[in-house]
Amino acid sequence: MSGNVRLLGIETSCDETAAAVVDDGHVVLSSEVASSSRLHVRFGGVVPEIACREHLRTLVPVVQTALETAAASSESLHGIAVTNRPGLVGALLIGTSVAKALAWAWRKPLVAVNHIEAHVYAAHMAFADLVHPYVALVVSGGHTSIYFVRDVFTHELLGATVDDAAGEAFDKVAKYLGLLGEHVHGGPAIEQLARRGDPDAIRFPRSLSGEGFDFSFSGLKTAVLYHCHGQDAGPTDAPPRLGERVLADVAASFQEAVVDVLTEKLVRAARETSVGRMVVGGGVAANGRLREKLTRRASEENLEVYFPSPGFCTDNAVMVAGLAYHHLKAGRTASLEMETHAQVERV
Ligand code: KG4
Ligand code: ZN
Repeated sequence: MSGNVRLLGIETSCDETAAAVVDDGHVVLSSEVASSSRLHVRFGGVVPEIACREHLRTLVPVVQTALETAAASSESLHGIAVTNRPGLVGALLIGTSVAKALAWAWRKPLVAVNHIEAHVYAAHMAFADLVHPYVALVVSGGHTSIYFVRDVFTHELLGATVDDAAGEAFDKVAKYLGLLGEHVHGGPAIEQLARRGDPDAIRFPRSLSGEGFDFSFSGLKTAVLYHCHGQDAGPTDAPPRLGERVLADVAASFQEAVVDVLTEKLVRAARETSVGRMVVGGGVAANGRLREKLTRRASEENLEVYFPSPGFCTDNAVMVAGLAYHHLKAGRTASLEMETHAQVERV
């Protein structure tokens, strides 16, 4: 392939409908994201049927806008990249069906991308000098896992959450504290409130902190619920009537517990695998306190740490088109019979 290698990326694994045009795996020509987040708020979590309805409604216009913004004709594309695993299976099917139709109609190669590997790749978009191997923490609403990443295609799982993902804990705690507002993703609201609170005010549990590389966040989530509502509380109770100051202390102390566990496990993974580099990806990687603490610990331990730009931490199609460039270059394309998978197996 000579000249720029241009990919259209499509991402529909959860509640974001996204499309992007990226050249050579790192030059972003356009990035469009339409979120159905606000439609799920009154249900307290993402409702797959609603997410699918919105993907159906918005995906084609989102793709059109991404192509127009990039001034990219269909002829200029070298391939169509799409997330085919893991995620809500109905939502993935909508993205893969549109990607297959475009690949067939425009006679372009199709590239299947693993959503978690795309989150890891997002840091490469910001740092051209990032080299393998490294340890990577993917911390999002659906996943909290640490990988040993040998090369752009090889992600060896070191540990994962045994219950809730860290982002899910942020979302549930935001719901308990009555912070959800317009969006079902409560991480940014907790982070904002936590800035006014004391992270040492309440010592919430740091589960599995000393052991292996697995995580557990459901005990922490319940500890916050009981702290705010009392021991008889249920997850659907109305938000507690706590003062602004107390709420801020709860948010800051909860965030600190999550950040401490994520930071210590990732630093230990780097030490135990003897790699000097750490990468973080996924929605929670946008969290300022996590970025600050990991950066500090990395410099104390003489390690490097790489984060994606804040805008490319949460779901987007740039990371999909970016990673797909390497698959395409290596001839790793998919057939039109390619399947979608809700889960990826634990290795
Ligand atoms: O990567 P993502 O968009 O979707 C999944 O693949 O799951 O991650 C969404 C998650 C949500 O749980 C959201 O609350 C969390 O990332 N998140 C944050 C922040 N921004 C997004 N959590 C903590 N602090 C943030 N600033
Ligand atoms: Zn994601």
